[in-house]
Amino acid sequence: MNRASEPTRIDIDLGERSYPIYVGAQLLERSAELLGSVATRDLLIVTNTTIEPLYALRLKSAFERADRRVSLLALPDGEQYKTLETTSKIFDTLVAGRFNRDATLVALGGGVIGDIVGFAAASYQRGIDFIQVPTTLLAQVDSSVGGKTGVNHPGGKNLIGAFHQPRAVIADIETLATLPPREYRAGLAEVVKYGFICDLSFLDWIESNAAPLRERDASSLVHAIRRSCEIKAEVVAQDEREHGLRAILNFGHTFGHAIETAAGYGEWLHGEAVAAGMALALDMSRRLGAITQGDADRSLRLMQKLELPIAPPRLGARRALELMGMDKKVLKGQLRLVLLKRLGEATVTAVYPRDVFEQTLAEHFG
Ligand code: NAD
Ligand code: GLY
Repeated sequence: MNRASEPTRIDIDLGERSYPIYVGAQLLERSAELLGSVATRDLLIVTNTTIEPLYALRLKSAFERADRRVSLLALPDGEQYKTLETTSKIFDTLVAGRFNRDATLVALGGGVIGDIVGFAAASYQRGIDFIQVPTTLLAQVDSSVGGKTGVNHPGGKNLIGAFHQPRAVIADIETLATLPPREYRAGLAEVVKYGFICDLSFLDWIESNAAPLRERDASSLVHAIRRSCEIKAEVVAQDEREHGLRAILNFGHTFGHAIETAAGYGEWLHGEAVAAGMALALDMSRRLGAITQGDADRSLRLMQKLELPIAPPRLGARRALELMGMDKKVLKGQLRLVLLKRLGEATVTAVYPRDVFEQTLAEHFG
């Protein structure tokens, strides 16, 4: 891709909460210009101690050149810091700096930073604006878009949160150059997810472009992020608060949640657990006759080509079931599952043969 080319813009249509997503190279430097009047004069950039030395100054300078008053806060790095206590540090900085309701928070980082900062923005003075500047592939294709914000509680992941849409998302693909390989691959799991659930031709494209994608080729990345964001934008526009359809974005996540929790957070990255979870969801869809054996084999081969794990740890079907029972997708006592109707189309259902579900768990979890 031409480094100086214009960014790709995707719009998420949510009435007065609509916003643009910009995808391209060298966007940190152009962020103030892209945002125009969206970001207010007083900005607090919140990042973590890993990302701060890499990218914070570029972003801060860009805003300062546009005459904004910018403060910076670096939080500790890690899912274990995605807590109310860490969120309080943002509130403390805002109060000490006398930020008022027209301040804007800028989340510079992966999904952890995006979720915490979004939640702080949802609650400070009953809600202020925030901008997402995602720096992981997972955040660029998934977590920065759609307005789910929140933090963990000792009793479960993401249990405390709010829906609060950002005013804009700026995804600079150049930040992905420093992302550790495992984190990068975990983001690819979410990309392939969109193909499985919504778009067979996107799945074909990923298959044909697996090698350049693995190598972080710029134009392949822009296409993959753009199409992922378009799909997420379409789903979120129809069901912002997850009354139904939006749950298809959790394909593989219910099974994956059991893997993540059993292993202890950090052992399996979220995207890795989602990949293995999708292998289970694909297998259950095959057992139900929704996809063919050929579809299932093809899907697993693609995930292997992207160097994603497809076998969960043998934690035992009973333990897996227990862990899935804790999932937020349990509605009125019934475990809803996201399954495929066919390759490229997902559905959310609480109606499925229990024995097929248990056979799938036994086959994969032991
Ligand atoms: P993360 O935010 O922990 O980032 C992964 C690691 O990469 C961190 O150590 C981070 O400091 C580092 N990093 C980030 N950008 C970097 C860069 N450009 N160069 C070098 N290192 C970099 O993890 P993640 O996978 O981005 O996000 C996971 C979180 O997202 C989870 O908490 C999950 O619950 C949440 N999530 C939220 C949504 C949503 O819709 N809100 C969706 C999916 C996941
Ligand atoms: N990552 C799932 C969602 O945003 O709904």
